[in-house]
Amino acid sequence: MNKEQVSDDYKNKIKLLEKYNKHYYDKDKPIVSDQEFDLLKKNIINLENKYKFLSSKYSPKKSVGYKPSKNFQKVKHRVPMLSLGNAFNEEDLKNFEKKIINYLSLKESTKIEYSAEPKIDGISASLIYVNGNFIRGLSRGNGIEGEDITLNLKTIKDIPLKIKERNFPDEIDIRGEVFIENNDFKLINEKFANPRNAASGSLRQKDPTATAKIPLKFIAYTYGYAAKMNIGNQTDFLENLKLWGFKINSFNKKIRNIQDLMSNYKDLEDKRKEIPFDIDGIVYKVNNFDLQRRLGFAANAPRWAIAHKFSANSSISEIINIEIQIGRTGALTPVAKIKPVNIGGVIVSNATLHNEDEIIRKDIRIGDTVVVERAGDVIPHVVLVDVTKRAKNSKDFIFPINCPSCGGKTIKDYNEITKKQDAVRRCASEGYECEQIVIEKIKHFVSKEAFNIDGFGKKIVENFWNLKLIRYPQDIFNIDYNKVEKLEGWGKLSVTNLQFSIEQKKQISLERFIYSLGIRHIGQENAKLLAKYLKTAVNFFKLSNSENVENLSNIDGIGITQIQSIKKFFINKRNLEVLSELDKNISIENVILVNNKGLLKNKTFMLTGKLNGISRAEAKSLIEQNSGKIISNVNKKLNFLIVGEKPTTKKVNIAKELNIKIIDQKEWMKMLNKTS
Ligand code: IVH
Repeated sequence: MNKEQVSDDYKNKIKLLEKYNKHYYDKDKPIVSDQEFDLLKKNIINLENKYKFLSSKYSPKKSVGYKPSKNFQKVKHRVPMLSLGNAFNEEDLKNFEKKIINYLSLKESTKIEYSAEPKIDGISASLIYVNGNFIRGLSRGNGIEGEDITLNLKTIKDIPLKIKERNFPDEIDIRGEVFIENNDFKLINEKFANPRNAASGSLRQKDPTATAKIPLKFIAYTYGYAAKMNIGNQTDFLENLKLWGFKINSFNKKIRNIQDLMSNYKDLEDKRKEIPFDIDGIVYKVNNFDLQRRLGFAANAPRWAIAHKFSANSSISEIINIEIQIGRTGALTPVAKIKPVNIGGVIVSNATLHNEDEIIRKDIRIGDTVVVERAGDVIPHVVLVDVTKRAKNSKDFIFPINCPSCGGKTIKDYNEITKKQDAVRRCASEGYECEQIVIEKIKHFVSKEAFNIDGFGKKIVENFWNLKLIRYPQDIFNIDYNKVEKLEGWGKLSVTNLQFSIEQKKQISLERFIYSLGIRHIGQENAKLLAKYLKTAVNFFKLSNSENVENLSNIDGIGITQIQSIKKFFINKRNLEVLSELDKNISIENVILVNNKGLLKNKTFMLTGKLNGISRAEAKSLIEQNSGKIISNVNKKLNFLIVGEKPTTKKVNIAKELNIKIIDQKEWMKMLNKTS
């Protein structure tokens, strides 16, 4: 881009920001998500940092919010009402603290004390008291100038009009958040998009009697200026606010280190649903007022405070393309390549569209503006299309009829149980005929739950496949290491390591082996059931005789779907070849008969909470190995409840009521004659 283009691009972005600002602050009706709004501001700031010739009085660096509405008189804040920097993760918090420590040139080991306060998602207001009387109230406006909304604020019951407490400063500007509780929001069935907009809209009604009808609340949390106030830190200040008659947040906490900030964050994020109003994060403030004063402000935010945002779970983006991925079982999964977008601190550029039926149902097309959601570790997905933004010439997305990898036929299975056709379209090829399916099969074969070959990741599978080093699972045990050593990025040591990992895994349990074959409908659980029943690899191989497969219906948990799938697997000649080759290269352990005379014989157990140094899965199998039984509900049949860290209180309480023995990890280990 030349200078002119950069400048045009910048101006357009500023114009757009002004438009968003106008809708957000003046009309109380945002037209884009908060995430998109923040992203635009970030883009503008990035441009300004990169090209020094760019500048505008509307730059987000210079202004906070939007100029006050014409409905109210404008008043300059004696102390500006600034905004806060954002943190999204532990790393950001560590940096925040590091900067403080550097700025104050304190020892690295210094423990900084913070006031951690839930960040209410409402509208901030500044309340000016002189000699104990509430004389004027302002909205934030653009941070420098606010709107005089005194009369409207006076209708809020949480705002004391007169304060008689002796230590109340002669003059003070108390700041806090005006908001509406979620239940009240539901009742005022008006045109607002969310409680925050409802609060903002009601607060800035021209007519205060209209404001009075809305049950607005106020929580106080800071001050702008104060004359002769003798308080040394934020947490004491909050306590005083309470004494003076203000409401403060009951979830405020004093916290000393980042780990504890993190666990408080997780706690609150969990409790978020139970809190009667919207919070969108936690504000951390350096507790000591002297330190706050020393730290001061940078640009438009204080150096002594930061907002730790909760992960937003949706954002708006645009579909650039729709690609079809082919899975190990041949399923064709459409994936939207989207314009990268920040969703709760993570940049997302792919979103699943699930399957053909979903695309039809939601009418998703290339070029569409869509809402993308990401929750926890789940793969981001497209929630809906904004059809108003759709281009006139946009066309339906045509789902491929042939497999994009092998060009073969695709089919939709008929589900015997639901009596419906599957939503998922699959490549009809069996086993090893379709290239993409084989690659995915091999990835599954080496994966953690299957052969668990250390260092043999998905990228390596793809790389080795492209170099024709592997074609079938058994090839893994006959890799030409001389060739690998010559590849870019590989050396003697890494090759030796890989060889070692593969050698180590040549011995495998029957259950893992069955699972690793990736037979459709045979996941870990079913593989375990089959192994338990069949006991030896020889018996498993005998399933090539379809009569033997029928017998599997004796296993509790194995049904017609699994039986058909196993039959299909053993009919395929290529699969049989793979089995026979694998058999030459590896050794499959027989299932050891479960010890029926174990130490935990005739005893039932249940686990709750985190155990020390042992995973839940391992603990369960340890119990089973010693003839104990696992129960999944607390009931009279339960003998022992093993309690780890942070147990589920409900389970413990029921166990107490039923007089069930509650033991900790140590006592349990003693039962097994183990000391640790
Ligand atoms: S202190 C100098 N404390 O968050 C910063 N703000 O982006 C002073 N907010 O405009 C703000 N809860 O509307 C502070 N406990 C809290 C808060 C809080 C919510 C809002 C407030 C402010 C915005 C900062």
